[in-house]
Amino acid sequence: MPSPAYVSLPQLFSFSAGVRGEWSIVSVNAVTGDSLAAAPRLEFTSGEVDPGANWTLRGFTSNARYTTRSELATLGAKPAPLGRASATRAALIPIAKSAAWWVLAQDTRREILASASQHIAIGSEYLPAIARQLHHSRDLGEPFDFLTWFEFAPEHEQLFEQLVTRLRTTPEWRYVEREVEIRLVRDRRQATDR
Ligand code: HEM
Repeated sequence: MPSPAYVSLPQLFSFSAGVRGEWSIVSVNAVTGDSLAAAPRLEFTSGEVDPGANWTLRGFTSNARYTTRSELATLGAKPAPLGRASATRAALIPIAKSAAWWVLAQDTRREILASASQHIAIGSEYLPAIARQLHHSRDLGEPFDFLTWFEFAPEHEQLFEQLVTRLRTTPEWRYVEREVEIRLVRDRRQATDR
């Protein structure tokens, strides 16, 4: 049976850039397309956000769309929960895919993501060092389709760079028309095992 961590129930989260939140924003870089405004802090919450924040992005966790039973088992065998005390580095990477992606059939998208690009296989190599949570935004009419969130320890920063570099060279990334990388830090004492 796959780990329950990979069979997420829908839960709405907000990422809000302003003066509140446990994460300090280190950098905001446009990888493809327009960037987002910089701010001192990022709040990652399922509750109320600061109405005065510079920007807020929303997305919900959901069931897997493309992952097979054996892939879920592989992912579930290397649990990497959010909120680990050692994970004082994070990245929020909002991503929008092109219309050319969204007109494809589900099986063709799975073929590009998993077979041609090896996204799930590559990603699995980085567990449990890199914890991840995928949020869906497209169905909310948000500016991005996905809000991808990663947490890791400072000693795994290079590993994370390697992971994003590898994924960005895959065929899947030809369909990415907007991507922003926001890097964050927090104090170890603020981290709580969730
Ligand atoms: C720990 C490393 C990673 C693992 C284990 C991983 C695993 C996965 C899996 C299993 C899915 C498919 C979910 C489904 O079946 O619906 C997925 C989707 C996705 N991942 Fe990753 N991933 C990793 C790293 C990354 C990184 C670094 C990025 C961004 C730079 C990223 C961006 C995405 C996006 C945007 C999707 C949604 C794709 C779509 O539905 O079109 N992932 N990931």
